[in-house]
Amino acid sequence: MPDQLHQPVMPEQVIKFLNPQTGGKYVDLTLGLGGHARRILECSAPDGVLLGVDRDPEAIRRAKKTLEPFRKRLKIIHGRFSELDVHLNNIGWSQVDGMLADLGVSSLQLQDAQRGFSFQNAGPLDMRMDPGLDESLMTRLARMDEVALADVLKRFGEVRRARVIARRILRSIKEDPLMDTVELARIASEGRRKGRIHPATRVFMALRMMVNREQEELRALLDSLPDPLKPGGRVVFISFHSLEDRLVKQRLRDLEGICTCPPGLPKCCCGVRPLMRVITRRPVIPEQAELDRNPRARSARLRMAERLAA
Ligand SMILES: C[S@@+](CC[C@H](N)C(=O)[O-])C[C@H]1O[C@@H](n2cnc3c(N)ncnc32)[C@H](O)[C@@H]1O
Repeated sequence: MPDQLHQPVMPEQVIKFLNPQTGGKYVDLTLGLGGHARRILECSAPDGVLLGVDRDPEAIRRAKKTLEPFRKRLKIIHGRFSELDVHLNNIGWSQVDGMLADLGVSSLQLQDAQRGFSFQNAGPLDMRMDPGLDESLMTRLARMDEVALADVLKRFGEVRRARVIARRILRSIKEDPLMDTVELARIASEGRRKGRIHPATRVFMALRMMVNREQEELRALLDSLPDPLKPGGRVVFISFHSLEDRLVKQRLRDLEGICTCPPGLPKCCCGVRPLMRVITRRPVIPEQAELDRNPRARSARLRMAERLAA
């Protein structure tokens, strides 16, 4: 599969907001196939450096190949972004000038049927971004009950009639432990009308988020802010899910540290200190030309904030 298949989302906007500089230090927390990383390295030439992190060993393997021309200015780590402090420590970096988190799955993961993310082509019920570490979807489902599964479908996918769908899925995997993704999609769509988006889309998204603990990962990364950034350092988030965008928005707003004292107090006594400044008051969305080129970008929302001087 040629690596050009993954088109980075909002590349110009990422560069505009991250504003990579010669000699700067950057982290791409979701390296994928290195589309954004390549642009950051180009814009920070000749001596800007970049750490690329991804939990998917296949993405790491491919990014190493495609980013080979930049190897002298590039470090690549296979791992989770929730452990950013450990990764930075391992390479002897303390703080950086900019970080990018382009959340969710890559086209590489979606298009490889054997990874189990897609319902277009039959594959095993897997969905692990890191096949070496986490439990596969099938293993996870096998130890879940209907209430817990319905809760996941509702929370992460806002799936309607979640309890009915959860019951059907669990019954079917008991009868057929080798069930594939196409069959799972059929079960998840039974009795539901086909609209613009396939009725199984939300079910698959919710299951993927569960298998990869995506919310926990994002929360841990957000909690680590602003420590990994130098004063003036920037962080850019691209989310594809309203829940994730809300988490990002809320945490960045908290870091702005708006004083919560009642109006009229002569002196601030709430102790809330502003740590970051949010630059994108509203989420930035892709332009129509990009959506025409790359429909995968359709639900992308970009937010950016800058660490304030101490
Ligand atoms: C949307 S893709 C990134 C694409 C990339 N920006 C590019 O231009 O090719 C998301 C990537 O993030 C990785 N990923 C998702 N969650 C992660 C996490 N918690 N830690 C590290 N990598 C993660 C996925 O494996 C996937 O390769």
